[in-house]
Amino acid sequence: SQRTLVLLKPDAVRRGLTGEIISRIERKAGWQITALELRDLDTATLEQHYGEHKGKPFYEPLVAFMSSGPVVALIVEGERVIEGVRALAGPTDPIAAAPGSIRGDYGVIVRENLIHASDSEESAEREVKIFFPGRA
Ligand code: GTP
Ligand code: MG
Repeated sequence: SQRTLVLLKPDAVRRGLTGEIISRIERKAGWQITALELRDLDTATLEQHYGEHKGKPFYEPLVAFMSSGPVVALIVEGERVIEGVRALAGPTDPIAAAPGSIRGDYGVIVRENLIHASDSEESAEREVKIFFPGRA
């Protein structure tokens, strides 16, 4: 089985949507939440996490947004969970996301799209190390 690193972004926390989003993940048969923490992210952590986007025009506003309030970080484990949580989330741009997906149902703009989920096994292992070094 797989594990993935999920972040419920500051907009999800501010809007009181963390319970709703976690419920959607929990309802999936065979998936398990194995770590969960509410925390504030500093710039150094975000630079590690979003390093691939450094230099892009949306990078600075993305880091500002991601440090604008606490996030909920989770590890989710289970069958094909990397692909599965990204399917629950929907496409990055909420306008392109179908109803029934998290971003399709609640997303407003591309930067404030509620949830991050690792996009590959390599990313998942890298990101778990950043957010839950004890679980590496
Ligand atoms: P994450 O799960 O958060 O990594 O989203 P993703 O994998 O769907 O998108 P990606 O890794 O390409 O981008 C990371 C985050 O940067 C996105 O979730 C958005 O919040 C933001 N982002 C990506 N592309 C754009 C863009 O073109 N404009 C703006 N404003 N934000 C963007
Ligand atoms: Mg990404």
